[in-house]
Amino acid sequence: MACGSFNYSFFANSVGKEMCEKRKTGNIAKVATCSLAVQGNTSTTAKPVVEVPADQNSTFINLGRSSTKRRFETHRCQETIEEIIGNGKFGRFGGKFVPETLITCLNMLEAEFRSVLHDVQFQAELATALRDYVGRETPLYYAQRLTEHYKSKSCSGEGPEIYLKREDLNHGGAHKMNNAIAQAMIARRMGRTRVVAATGAGQHGVATAAACAKLSLECTVFMGTKDIEKQSSNVLLMKLLGAQVKSVAGNFKDATSEAFRNWVNDLETSYYLTGTVVGPHPCPSMVREFQSVIGKETRKQALEKWGGEPDVLVACVGSGSNALGLFHEFIDDEDVRLIGVEGAGIGLDSGHHSATLTRGEVGVYHGAMSYLLQDHEGQIVGPHSIGVGLEYPGVSPELSFLKDSGRAEFHTATDQEALDAYRLLCRLEGIFPALEACHALAFLDKLCPTLRSGTKVVVNCSGRGDKDAAIVFNSKLT
Ligand SMILES: Cc1ncc(COP(=O)(O)O)c(C=O)c1O
Repeated sequence: MACGSFNYSFFANSVGKEMCEKRKTGNIAKVATCSLAVQGNTSTTAKPVVEVPADQNSTFINLGRSSTKRRFETHRCQETIEEIIGNGKFGRFGGKFVPETLITCLNMLEAEFRSVLHDVQFQAELATALRDYVGRETPLYYAQRLTEHYKSKSCSGEGPEIYLKREDLNHGGAHKMNNAIAQAMIARRMGRTRVVAATGAGQHGVATAAACAKLSLECTVFMGTKDIEKQSSNVLLMKLLGAQVKSVAGNFKDATSEAFRNWVNDLETSYYLTGTVVGPHPCPSMVREFQSVIGKETRKQALEKWGGEPDVLVACVGSGSNALGLFHEFIDDEDVRLIGVEGAGIGLDSGHHSATLTRGEVGVYHGAMSYLLQDHEGQIVGPHSIGVGLEYPGVSPELSFLKDSGRAEFHTATDQEALDAYRLLCRLEGIFPALEACHALAFLDKLCPTLRSGTKVVVNCSGRGDKDAAIVFNSKLT
């Protein structure tokens, strides 16, 4: 199946293996040894595009380079820079559906993205920021009591082993910081002085405001009035971090449109810092690359903890950045099940949900083709979820492709199930997860009884739930 220049070789595994071999033996043109976070293959005959200065090794080897011997075991195989960037197409999805005036700007952004992937200095600075500022690597935590909980519910007393990828422990409280810091660095490198962003749950807003404070960039965050009300603690943080928070009637989709408009009026000095894997090319590829550190670390940590790969990966899906961040590393590993969980809101048939992949139809929104929540006339239908960060009517073009190809499966969890999952994790593990992440956790109820004993399940705990504590506390227990 054609898919641009992307490495979706799981359709023909032998082709995938051959590609990987070629990369290992240096028969493929460019090897992105400086690609974010995991560096490798100097133990092979491959010629790196760039040499890593010896004194920067410690930042590069941060992930998955614990010994020369293990470099290939700890990483799928190196992607070429062209594969990382891609051509913006994921099968029929993706693209660059924008007015002509924006094309130059997006082309400049793509050129800059390409350039930072080649730039040893940039990569070294980013690796240092991820380690010392963001706090990576995040733990792969064995949730023992949660595991026991599901074992105790089964007749045999057996069940899967559950691990949490603790993205909630990142500075700022969510996976959003992985991308925000990297893109703020790109904005500075492009000579932009002002950053514009849109946020739903406020986590991307907080991450962007913090990164801008650190890099001395002016920051304006657009946020829907409804979300400002629901996620007021994050609004305070953004303001304390020096950002201007502009309220927009509506929710995240309306804030995104307004942020776009604001950016378009000031293309010379402003940088639009997209928080997730949607929008026109190169935004989805760029955010996915900056989030793929989650999966790369998971591979390395799984190898250290149980000497293998995870069997099942579970992540919530709003627009798709935490899910792709975890999945991308494992797309070629056919044995690893990839499960995305969307918000079923108050029920899939109620019309009040955010299950874009499960219930949407293909269309174009915010510059790209993907599944969309729309009516029969093609008008956008407003999404709903108790996890505010899941409320987006579109979704990642890459996840749309993974759905169509059958490589990833998508399920849903209701608001109530997410609330129950929040309380359960608090009581069993002393961890309060973001309501968005609770959708992934809630799906364990359905998943665990179907898995054989000992199956290794990794759930992406994409953020912390301080922002949601009042919502959960005040909601009625069922
Ligand atoms: C903690 C958390 N998880 C998940 C999401 C959903 O976004 P995405 O699907 O891009 O990971 C958000 C969005 O704000 C979030 O704040």
